[in-house]
Amino acid sequence: MAARIIYSQLFSILNIVFLTLPTRSVAMAFAPAVKAAYWPSDSTFPPSAIDTSLFSHIHYAFLMPSNVTYKFEISNSTALLMSNFTTTLGHMNPPPATLFSIGGGGSDSLLFSRMASKPKSRKAFIASAMEVARKFGFDGMDLDWEYPNNPKDMKNLGHLFKEWRRAIKVEAKATCRAPLLLTAAVYFSVEVNLDGVYRKYPANSMDKNLDWVNVMCFDYHGGWNTSVTGAHAALYDSSSNVTTSYGLRSWIKAGVARSKLVMGLPLYGRSWQLKDQSFHEIGSAAVAVGPGDNGTMTFLEIEEFNKKNGAIIVHDMDSVSTYSYVGSSWVGYDDDITVTLKIGFAQALGIRGYFFWALGSDSEWKISKQASRAWILGE
Ligand SMILES: *[C@@H]1O[C@H](CO)[C@@H](O)[C@H](O)[C@H]1NC(C)=O
Ligand SMILES: *[C@@H]1O[C@H](CO)[C@@H](O)[C@H](O)[C@H]1NC(C)=O
Ligand SMILES: *[C@@H]1O[C@H](CO)[C@@H](O)[C@H](O)[C@H]1NC(C)=O
Ligand SMILES: *[C@@H]1O[C@H](CO)[C@@H](O)[C@H](O)[C@H]1NC(C)=O
Ligand SMILES: *[C@@H]1O[C@H](CO)[C@@H](O)[C@H](O)[C@H]1NC(C)=O
Ligand SMILES: *[C@@H]1O[C@H](CO)[C@@H](O)[C@H](O)[C@H]1NC(C)=O
Repeated sequence: MAARIIYSQLFSILNIVFLTLPTRSVAMAFAPAVKAAYWPSDSTFPPSAIDTSLFSHIHYAFLMPSNVTYKFEISNSTALLMSNFTTTLGHMNPPPATLFSIGGGGSDSLLFSRMASKPKSRKAFIASAMEVARKFGFDGMDLDWEYPNNPKDMKNLGHLFKEWRRAIKVEAKATCRAPLLLTAAVYFSVEVNLDGVYRKYPANSMDKNLDWVNVMCFDYHGGWNTSVTGAHAALYDSSSNVTTSYGLRSWIKAGVARSKLVMGLPLYGRSWQLKDQSFHEIGSAAVAVGPGDNGTMTFLEIEEFNKKNGAIIVHDMDSVSTYSYVGSSWVGYDDDITVTLKIGFAQALGIRGYFFWALGSDSEWKISKQASRAWILGE
């Protein structure tokens, strides 16, 4: 196993990071950093095993409302799991704030379209979500609608957030409790151009009505295109705008306050099978997905794979990403080094923090610990 860093490039990245530091928004001094992570509720990794010293917020992922009433009809087994989640984390030292996340990748996007399209169904959905949050002891709610399908959905999403915020304020006042948190997980860029349909998130409503926005800065490349390898969470790419730096800047440009932007970091990688073993760069020809679960591997699995097979590990400073290869296997991911550089970038940009997808995928908290340490003003 070998590691290679191109130091001149590393130096120029650090230079960019530190030279731009003074532009950091002063709002950061008042808003504590968000160091969040999602916990998949079907995970075998129990909430009691979470090192809560590393995270400010933990998301329970996921819940779906009824397709008919748009209310949450929670089964007894889910109720047990949710109570256990909030109770367990509430007793830990320190206790992180908890949110439950609604939707998730692969969930029924059209259900959310229908719900958001009418004031009556929005109201039922919002009231039910808030009732769930209070009943199970969560501090907030997160909407992960992947993705609003068209401009009309985006407009309705703006209405939904506005009405949701109003309901939160009213409830907090009536009950004399701290207002519930409201966040959303979103596409890497404010503009979405998927399936040939262009639509843009309602940035003004989001800035005004959300506590913050979890920007999913990953999945730029993957098994849906097996012809070339790719850095699936690249910070930079000289030939494309599908990058974390472009995505985060697009949200700022659209008017979302820097203090309300949180950068997603993947605790997983994406793998390919190389066409020719002697070409093993980012963008080299590939023929199929590589090792792992249909081309996806957790960081923990990647570390084991690298060690077991003596893979060569490369830190690519053009994209700010890590990859490893051995034989015809190639895996693109982030490790503690590239995550540190991305956190330097995020802090120079003056954003609020970071989140990980997902708990249970780190290797002995290696990346989570390094991220928490690297975030200078964090607590
Ligand atoms: C949800 O309801 C719609 C009609 O309102 C139906 O077309 C769709 O198949 C349903 N989806 C699921 C997952 O039940
Ligand atoms: C769910 O729990 C409730 C009360 O805790 C109980 O009355 C009901 O029978 C349970 N339902 C099932 C399907 O176990
Ligand atoms: C949560 O579940 C775990 C594992 O099933 C159990 O050991 C623990 O006692 C439960 N905790 C609470 C607070 O219910
Ligand atoms: C594997 O991933 C590809 C692309 O992401 C997807 O189209 C395919 O359905 C997946 N196959 C399985 C068996 O999950
Ligand atoms: C796969 O990705 C490469 C590089 O981004 C691109 O040139 C190619 O057109 C893509 N192929 C498909 C089928 O999308
Ligand atoms: C990236 O975005 C900028 C501005 O939005 C645009 O001018 C440029 O053509 C885009 N580049 C690519 C490679 O799509």
